[in-house]
Amino acid sequence: MLSTSLPGGTWSLGGLTVGRFGYGAMQLAGPGVMGPPADHDDALAVLRAVADLGITHIDTSAAYGPWVTNRLIREALHPYPAGLRIATKVGAVRDAEGGWPPARRPEDLRRAVRDNLDGLGVEVLDVVNLRLGDARGPRPGTLAEPFEALVELQRQGLIRHLGVSNATAEQVAEAQAIAPIVCVQNMYNLAHRHDDALIDRLAGEGIAYVPFFPLGGFDPLQSSALSAVAARLGATPMSVALAWLLHRSPNILLIPGTSSVTHLRENVAGAGLSLSADDLTELDRIGA
Ligand SMILES: NC(=O)c1ccc[n+]([C@@H]2O[C@H](COP(=O)([O-])OP(=O)(O)OC[C@H]3O[C@@H](n4cnc5c(N)ncnc54)[C@H](OP(=O)(O)O)[C@@H]3O)[C@@H](O)[C@H]2O)c1
Repeated sequence: MLSTSLPGGTWSLGGLTVGRFGYGAMQLAGPGVMGPPADHDDALAVLRAVADLGITHIDTSAAYGPWVTNRLIREALHPYPAGLRIATKVGAVRDAEGGWPPARRPEDLRRAVRDNLDGLGVEVLDVVNLRLGDARGPRPGTLAEPFEALVELQRQGLIRHLGVSNATAEQVAEAQAIAPIVCVQNMYNLAHRHDDALIDRLAGEGIAYVPFFPLGGFDPLQSSALSAVAARLGATPMSVALAWLLHRSPNILLIPGTSSVTHLRENVAGAGLSLSADDLTELDRIGA
């Protein structure tokens, strides 16, 4: 069932309605996003709480574990609740050291799409993001060959909608010149605002911007200004960081990650925090 009571209301991903408050599943895998979770039942409980809370947008990848988070999602939630949309990413695999080497040849992408279909137990993937760049961030260069390979898989009916991730603004534009995209998933949060202009452009075009590391990822956001606003509002810095993203632009969809039901509930409650014009001005200075 689609809930609109979650913070931020809803957004249309190419006609698929999702709540703006979603969930990122990466934290469910083991340390370094490798192997099984510390506690299998706890991971399933987080995913069931995600659905019970009415969250309708889950972000995952066959590279998480690898294959771990997709199987957990399937075990916890299949058959999937009506209205639940699962976005995945292809374009990187895992090596024995836990690295994320690129895998963007057409045959790599066909295999990755098949892995995601099998792992999630679906006939068609709602959203597939082509992950570009590397662990350091976006890298310039054409995406034509891998993106066209995904467009072909979309034509074959295996993918509903396409997006790009870890992409430069130029790569986003190049993808759009080849085929429609519904989202861009890049690193962005209160302290890392290099995509401000891109977010505003995409908002004008009705395309979602899905920040990864909304809470700082492996290095939690820390800022005295953030702590000061949070203390004034009687909230946690995490809550303020999520609420700020929802205020930042209507096309921003949240996918905060957590392996804890308690944190999940805190994040849902916290993202609904109201921020005044003065709060926003103070917070805006953090990433300036
Ligand atoms: N496209 C890409 O290249 C890419 C890269 C990275 C991530 N992603 C996606 O983006 C999603 C979000 O990123 P992320 O999970 O790495 O980082 P994040 O959402 O910025 O932060 C997650 C971290 O914050 C902690 N946390 C969450 N809620 C908390 C709370 N209320 N209080 C205290 N700590 C809290 C989590 O620990 P606990 O588990 O203890 O709560 C975890 O360590 C991922 O799940 C993944 O789906 C995509």
